[in-house]
Amino acid sequence: MSIFRTKNLDHMVAQSKSDTGLKKVLGPMDLVLMGIGAIVGTGIFVLTGTGAVTAGPALTLSFVIAAIACGFAALCYAEFASTVPVAGSIYTYSYATMGELVAWMIGWDLLLEYGLATSAVSVGWSGYFQSLIAGFGMRLPVELTAAPGAVAGVHTIINLPALLIMLVLTAMLSLGVRESARANGVMVVIKIAVVLLFIFTGARHVQPANWQPFMPFGMNGVMSAAALVFFAFIGFDAVTSAAEEVKRPERDLPIGIIGSLTVCTVLYVLVSAIMTGIVPFQQFAGVDHPVSLALQYAKENWFAGFVDLGAILGMTTVILVMSYGQTRIIFAMSRDGLLPQRLSKVHPKYGTPFFATWVVGIVFGLIGSMVPLDVLAELINIGTLAAFCLVSVAVVVLRKKRPDLPRAFRCPGVPVVPALSIVFCLALMSFLSKTTWIAFLIWLVIGLVIYFTYSRHNAVLHKQQ
Ligand code: ALA
Repeated sequence: MSIFRTKNLDHMVAQSKSDTGLKKVLGPMDLVLMGIGAIVGTGIFVLTGTGAVTAGPALTLSFVIAAIACGFAALCYAEFASTVPVAGSIYTYSYATMGELVAWMIGWDLLLEYGLATSAVSVGWSGYFQSLIAGFGMRLPVELTAAPGAVAGVHTIINLPALLIMLVLTAMLSLGVRESARANGVMVVIKIAVVLLFIFTGARHVQPANWQPFMPFGMNGVMSAAALVFFAFIGFDAVTSAAEEVKRPERDLPIGIIGSLTVCTVLYVLVSAIMTGIVPFQQFAGVDHPVSLALQYAKENWFAGFVDLGAILGMTTVILVMSYGQTRIIFAMSRDGLLPQRLSKVHPKYGTPFFATWVVGIVFGLIGSMVPLDVLAELINIGTLAAFCLVSVAVVVLRKKRPDLPRAFRCPGVPVVPALSIVFCLALMSFLSKTTWIAFLIWLVIGLVIYFTYSRHNAVLHKQQ
């Protein structure tokens, strides 16, 4: 039953300590910043508008529910990341615990999550960018502003800024991780500064009357919004995909994951409370820049401009870290033979998977520039929630199979915490639309076909048998 064959864990743990060609340069602060870099973006800057219309002021509660789901999953992730610190995140962990087919399906699922997330965020980036340059009286030819069919009644050909930002960031990533981490660090600091600026400026304009009624659409509205704004937390898992480039992974990975998630939760709850406290929630309908709208509403136009700029930088870092995570997962899958070997070649000079980085950048850059992406957030969410469920199962499986393995970080309360993680994730998934479920299942079927026609026969484990 080759589909259940597993990678040798002891070998993988040893491999993580040896030289794999990737440079070990990242510390705990890099990881927390990288986490925040991947997390704060389109979710808070764009999707909070729809979230507020769906849940009302109780959007704060939606953020808390989504954060709890992520928190349970993060504890499971952290245990794995500290036990088997190799590139490829949950894909790699499941290869060692649940067998090749499950691992492949998770890897395939992650390609959807990370890849489409970069496409979706590049579109959000383009929107804010165009609004910023419009402030200086500049406009692109309308054909180049959006994907074909994205704007009803307008002839558009390509979303050029979305494609260009993807290509610029791909170039940065392909030239070196340390340098990208540094640029990322600067942008993350500015992004947090802008969010704090919003919190301090906005707090003075809150009218508590706007928080009444708090839950106009009941728990149903709160849960539907939670299933959507869950997107705002996606990305903390990208930290784990950097495992092989971390100096002290056993200690630094849990700090990176849990630290970045905690910071973001606090920021999101504050931002959504203030937004809905300034603007009556109904007025967010159809708004794609809800955070700066709240400041414009409060007549703080100057600060609103800053928020636009911060949003652009914020989304830049999300694309950067997501693309990075994407290439490292492809790297790991290709190294195992499940994807063509060329994708795991490390550039002799830059120490990065150069070819894979460019393939990802071009493919998902084109998707972002050519496909209207309004329903993508949901599709990305379902893929991620499914992956979270599997990592929770995998923690329990690994505890049973290999109780002896040294774990620098142990998820507390096993099996209760992994079980809660699964319950929360499934609950959120149940609030996503039928179309999303169908699209997700189609993606999984394509993955199965590739596995049985290509990956199974080319797997490194197959050749070793
Ligand atoms: N969490 C990321 C964002 O909100 C994906 O943009």
